[in-house]
This record gives sequence, C-alpha cells and structure tokens, in this order.
Amino acid sequence: MKIIEKIDELRLSLAPLTYQKTEKQPYKTIGFVPTMGALHEGHISLIEEAKTKSDFVICSIFVNPLQFNNTGDFTNYPISLEKDIKMLEKAGCDLLFLPNSDTMYQNSVRTKMIFEELDSVMEGTHREGHFSGVGIVVAKLFNIVQPNHAFFGQKDLQQFAIIQQMVNDLSFPIQLHCCPIKREEDGLAMSSRNRRLDEDQRTIAPKIYESLILTKKMLKKDQTIKKAQQSGLSHLQKYKEFKTEYLEIVDATTLQPLDSELDIKKLDKKIKIAVCVATKLGEIRLIDNILID
Ligand code: PAF
Repeated sequence: MKIIEKIDELRLSLAPLTYQKTEKQPYKTIGFVPTMGALHEGHISLIEEAKTKSDFVICSIFVNPLQFNNTGDFTNYPISLEKDIKMLEKAGCDLLFLPNSDTMYQNSVRTKMIFEELDSVMEGTHREGHFSGVGIVVAKLFNIVQPNHAFFGQKDLQQFAIIQQMVNDLSFPIQLHCCPIKREEDGLAMSSRNRRLDEDQRTIAPKIYESLILTKKMLKKDQTIKKAQQSGLSHLQKYKEFKTEYLEIVDATTLQPLDSELDIKKLDKKIKIAVCVATKLGEIRLIDNILID
C-alpha cells in the first residue's frame, strides 16, 4: 500500500490512473473511504465494499479539528496509526492519504457550510459547528482525491444525509454509498470511541442498542411515536451512568422528527423511519441508530 502525505504528490500519483490511455488500458475508477483513523472492523467493511465497486481504493486518515466542538474530545481522539496501516494493508487498500493539519489547512479556513433542516436536528443542535467542519473537510478531500465512489458508515446517518445533500447541491460527480453498521457480538455499534470506555462503561454500553430495539418493538406494536420514544428513553434512564442527549424517531430521509402523537398505523407506508440516539458515558459520547421499513 502506497502512503502519501502531500496533496500535490497524491494528485500526480492519481493522474495516470484516471484517464483512458488506450482501449486496452481504460481509466480506473476510484473508491474513497475517508476516516479519522483508529480503525475497526466497521471501517474495514467500507474498504471491502469499496473494493467491490471500484478498481483502486483510497483511504484517508485525518483527525479533522474543524469538526470538534469540544477540545477534550479532539485531544483525546484515539490514534493507532501503525495498527491502522496493517489493517488497511490486510484489507487490500491501495493507497493511504495521510495529510497533517498544515497540509489540509495551510491557511485558516474562513468558509462555513450550513445544511438548513438537516443541520437543525439531533447532532446539529448538540454539536455546534460540527457539520460545517465535516462538510469542509469532506468537500476538500473530494476535491483532492476526485473519487468516483465514496463510502460512509450508516452509524453517522445524519453525516451521510448532509454529505449527500452537499454532493447533490454542488454537483460533485461522486456516487455515495451508505454501508451497514458493524456491531460487536453484544450489539454495541463499532466506533473508534469505544476503546476509551472503561470496563464498567463497556459493560453497559450495549444498552444503547437495546434501547433502539425496544423502540422499534414498540413501533411495531403500533404504539404512538411518543410512547415508543419514551420506552427507549426509559430503558437508558435505568442506568445512571448514561447522560442521554436525545432518542429521536425521524423520517430516515429528511431526518425530521415524526409527530409525537402520530399513530404509526397512519404513517405513509413508503416512509422509512430511523431511530437515532446519542448518549454520554462519562466523557465519551456515543451515537447509534436503526432503520425501520
Ligand atoms: O466519519 C468520520 O470519520 C469523519 O466525520 C469524516 C467523514 C472522515 C470527516 O472527517
């Protein structure tokens, strides 16, 4: 696996791949998996999916300061570069783009992005400026890498919706793929932040997924949105360690909360629902979601 740290070097190295030399040597499609490192099986599943959809797979590792609204979260973000490189090599990734902050943000960034409705719910209201930072870095990485396909995890459902909106609105010629959440055996959604959990926190962390399953069960029993939401929330409230920020039942496309008094039987059958949760265990903030047809 090639490792490149500089933007110009990456562009030079990709140029020969991306134009058709002869009929026998057509251009190669590029699949891109942007990450912040501390890789786990969830990231590797994105690399594997990228390999099925593209000829050349690029992963980037860059802990993007612009998307952290909490400096503690940024400074404590786990880093495991050597292990990450080994995992990427084993997964068959072709190139790792590994820029540092000076390379990415040579000049201080003065541009901001707003995403209207998509940014005004859930993560948007709890992490001010977060999605602007995500939008800037992803747009920048898309400009540098110029992939045909890009792969993101469903765990960050709202992030995916925002990036899809940005790609549509700014006409990036990139097909996005939202890949399923990878879970530990006990249901906990894989996340780089999980490695910061202590033993006790790790033991109760799977209750997050349980709260989503419970909410889904209540919806399937034709309860109102409010009752289903309350049962998910009360499941988490049983454990004083959780400081829950939200558990929302939303339209999976627009991410807008469904009317709390709505009787689920009356919901348009075509609407896909998502149950999304964000909660803190100590200083560690975890998110998860499930989709319901
Ligand atoms: O999902 C992530 O790891 C990050 O938000 C991303 C998309 C790599 C942007 O920094």
